[in-house]
Amino acid sequence: MEVVIAPAPALARLAADAVERLVRARPTAVLGLATGSSPLAVYDELARRHREDGLSFARVRAFMLDEYVGLPADHPQRYRNVIEAEIASRVDLAPGAVLGPDGLAQDLAAACAGYERAIADAGGVDLQLLGIGTDGHVAFNEPGSSLASRTRIKTLTRQTREDNARFFDDDVTAVPTHCLTQGLATIMAARHLVLLAQGRSKAEAVHQLVEGPVSALWPATVLQHHPHVTVLVDDAAASRL
Ligand code: GLP
Repeated sequence: MEVVIAPAPALARLAADAVERLVRARPTAVLGLATGSSPLAVYDELARRHREDGLSFARVRAFMLDEYVGLPADHPQRYRNVIEAEIASRVDLAPGAVLGPDGLAQDLAAACAGYERAIADAGGVDLQLLGIGTDGHVAFNEPGSSLASRTRIKTLTRQTREDNARFFDDDVTAVPTHCLTQGLATIMAARHLVLLAQGRSKAEAVHQLVEGPVSALWPATVLQHHPHVTVLVDDAAASRL
C-alpha cells in the first residue's frame, strides 16, 4: 500500500495522473467511478485535461460503485445522475459507457447478479477510484460487511445517512435507507485501487485502513490485502497515522 500525504489539489492531480496514464496506454480501459465529495476534484481535473490536453475517454467503459435504492430516475442525488453531471457529461465517454447498479430494478437481487456479470464481461476494472466513509466503509460496504461480499443490497447505517444528509438539504429522513453496492471482493478484483480521503473526520478511518488489523468492522482494511493500492490523503486525514 502506497500512502501519499499532500495538500488536496495535489492529491486530485495524482489521482488524475493515474487515470491519464492508464487511458493513454490503454484507450479501452475500464474505470471504476466513485461518488461522494472526495473524487470531485479528480473529476474536475480529468474534465480540464479532456478540454485542454485532448485526453479522450471515447473508448473507455466505466462502472459505478453503488447506488441508492428507490430514488426516482430524475433525482439529482441518484448516483447515476451525480456521475453523469460530475464526469460523464464533461468528457467524451460514449453514451451507455457508464454502468451502475440499478436501484430501481423490480428484482434487485437479479440486478446485482447482472451487474457482477457485466463487470466480468468487460474484463474487470483496471483502476477503481474510492472514497472512504467516516466509519471505514468503502462504496456502501458498511461495518460488518463480509470481506468476501459481491454486489448486493445493503441497509445504510444511521451514521452514513447522517453523513450524506448534506446532499439532501440536511434532511436525514430524505436519505434512502437501502442501497446496492459492489461488494468488497468485487472492489478487490480491480487491478489498481486509488483511494482519496480529506479532512479530520476521515482520520480514524484512514488510521484503521493503513495501520489497523484487517476486520469487517472497518471494511476498508481489506485493502491491505490488495497488491496495488494508492492512498491519497491530506494532512488532516493523515493526522492519526
Ligand atoms: C458515500 C459513498 C462512498 C463514499 C463515501 C464518502 O457513502 N457511497 O462511495 O466513499 O460516501 O463520501 P465523501 O467522499 O463525500 O466523504
